[in-house]
Amino acid sequence: MTEAAVVRFDVEDGVGVVTIDYPPVNALGPGVVEGIVEAIDAAQSNPAVKALVLIGAGRSFIAGADIRRFGKPRPPMARRTYDALDGSSKPIVAAIHGFALGGGLENAMACHYRIAVPSAKVGLPEVLIGILPGGGGTQRLPRLIGPKAAMEMIVSGRHVPAPEALKLGIVDALVDGKDLRKEAIAFAKSIADKRPLRRVRDLTDRLAEAKADPGMFEAMRKSIARKARNQKAPFNCIAAVEAACSQPFDEGIATERSLFNELENADEAKALRYAFFAEREVARIPGLSKDVTPPVLKTAAVLGAGTMGGGIAMSFADAGFPVKLLDASAEIVERGLARIRDNYATSVKRGSLAQAEMDRRMARIEPVATYEDIAEVDVVIEAVFERMDVKKEVFAKLDAVMKPGALMLTNTSALDIDEIAAVTKRPEAVVGAHFFVPANVMRLLEVVEGAKTAPATMAAAMKLGRDIGKISAWAGNTDGFAANRSRITFTQEQGWMVEEGALPEQIDKVMVDFGYPVGPFAVNDMSGLDVSYQTRKRRAAADPTYRGLPIPDRLVEMGRKGQKTGAGWYRYDKGDRTPHVDPETHRIIKEVAAERGIQQRAFTEQEILHRLLFSSVNEVCKIIEEGKALRASDIDTMWLNGFGFPRYRGGLMFWADSIGAREIYNQVAAWHQRYGGRWQPSALLRQIAETGGQLRDAKAPQMG
Ligand code: 3HC
Repeated sequence: MTEAAVVRFDVEDGVGVVTIDYPPVNALGPGVVEGIVEAIDAAQSNPAVKALVLIGAGRSFIAGADIRRFGKPRPPMARRTYDALDGSSKPIVAAIHGFALGGGLENAMACHYRIAVPSAKVGLPEVLIGILPGGGGTQRLPRLIGPKAAMEMIVSGRHVPAPEALKLGIVDALVDGKDLRKEAIAFAKSIADKRPLRRVRDLTDRLAEAKADPGMFEAMRKSIARKARNQKAPFNCIAAVEAACSQPFDEGIATERSLFNELENADEAKALRYAFFAEREVARIPGLSKDVTPPVLKTAAVLGAGTMGGGIAMSFADAGFPVKLLDASAEIVERGLARIRDNYATSVKRGSLAQAEMDRRMARIEPVATYEDIAEVDVVIEAVFERMDVKKEVFAKLDAVMKPGALMLTNTSALDIDEIAAVTKRPEAVVGAHFFVPANVMRLLEVVEGAKTAPATMAAAMKLGRDIGKISAWAGNTDGFAANRSRITFTQEQGWMVEEGALPEQIDKVMVDFGYPVGPFAVNDMSGLDVSYQTRKRRAAADPTYRGLPIPDRLVEMGRKGQKTGAGWYRYDKGDRTPHVDPETHRIIKEVAAERGIQQRAFTEQEILHRLLFSSVNEVCKIIEEGKALRASDIDTMWLNGFGFPRYRGGLMFWADSIGAREIYNQVAAWHQRYGGRWQPSALLRQIAETGGQLRDAKAPQMG
């Protein structure tokens, strides 16, 4: 045994085995690179070694460079692993299980052979953290699989399953993986004497594809132009692959390096790295010690076969869980199932889901008729109509039938969890689970802790969310919980600014330019103006001081409910979803403003952006100071995964730091003077402004 503890080297049967052992995912952290280089170099002069194997201990091969080290000064590397592997005089086999990502796959491609277990995944996901593969990946992958397929993988950053990697030519063979080390040694022995060594850097055949189709790079740039606007990394990825096709290998590597250097310290990469770690930090809940072991949940039931319930059932089926579906009648369940089938069929038609996989997923969803049919499942998610009396009735029934220890989740976006839990004899087993629409697509799951929710229940619900592919985020039991409550001020200001003279299309343009895929008014037209109309009417009836939104109210009352009626904020041609600016909307806005005596005026783009987002920043500070969200970075995670906030801006609070807490506080205070109570500055915002701290670091009082 030699080298640092994170890399082991031993010789077995004429094969030198280099094992990376740097938990949890074998990132190329301190000592790993040096350890690999040393082991490979030492093996060159060791006569006992005829071939080598590069393998990872634990759950993965190598997950890539250590992301924590980016953006910080790094000592220059004496020698890169890629050069040591590639330059070896003895053949090296990369044996892949778990993940080979980023620098992990780049190291594997610098080896002479790659074998993988069928469950392994490979990819170059650097673009997702705002950089490009900087270890030769943009030069070697096109040589292995052709520039077009390489570009698609690098620009999307997707994880490619091993069987597809075999077809593409990234790996040479799949092995069964019962004992990967043994299989890799056998493979290495079988190729030990083959010469010349097959170095990926020397391959040129596939690069000719760029000559046959020289327009492919421009076509790729065009195809991502809309989605990647305001970003640099995806375009640098394309440029690097283009260089692979036009420059000799070493020159291409130099081009890759300089394109990489342009990105590493840019705002885009900083924001995306922050988002990466924020999405992992969100899993940690103070007070939930590691000793709380969540129960293993194997079976589930969803109560409510509407759009929400159906989407939740699909999330379970997608993740491989059997799930029962129950509603008031067999017909309603059948209708729900038909909608689920249609959704899957659309994916099959689009080519994103295989028919056989659709069949497997459908088979996991079992329609049932009575509460007794779901009594034995480990977890039930209630997704019935959003009305307290209905939810209470359902929970009383569930309490009567569910087996002891069953987890009981209520999917609500606003109702009081404690009031729902109170109708049961086991409030400790009840927890809120706020899914976002469409539930099978949106990654955010807000897990809402009630006053009596047990720690084990919280831990189980958080884990359940992760098991079905969601990002679980803790929220306190407050009106709208953390996510919607932080967003509602944005929605209100959006409506009130229109009364004051900003046009819907102007606000939409500002937000699309900012990076949202669609502006808020166009979104409103898609989801239907009538949904929030009902909520406003209910609120107005309950609270005489409630200030409504008279313009969308008027639109709904005129039958303009959005896309589905051919008009809302915008006008739509029959069968077409393109929004057209509508002078009739302008007339209605003016009319309502005049009726209410509101003076209209012009707005600048900056005022629009700041008014929408500062209102939410102020509200987030209030939510945190009340302890209803744990961290500002949790709210950022919610906005990224629940509301389509542009990821390359990190999140609402990360973005806010680019303006500065002081400037935001001053503006909020000025608007408080002008517009009154709703702009009351949060004490926490004021404190951060005064101490010169970062908004993104704000934490709830219970975080200590
Ligand atoms: N660097 C540093 N830490 C990493 C890491 C990395 N590349 N990959 C994972 N981690 C950490 C996570 O932060 C987490 O830490 P925590 O427990 O303290 O929160 C821990 O490892 C486990 O990670 P996950 O919770 O994400 O574990 P999963 O099993 O859910 O996912 C994974 C595993 C798919 C490997 C996922 O962690 C992942 O996508 N990692 C990033 C992969 C990546 O982007 N690689 C490219 C890096 S850049 C690069 O290689 C540049 C090169 O081209 C020069």
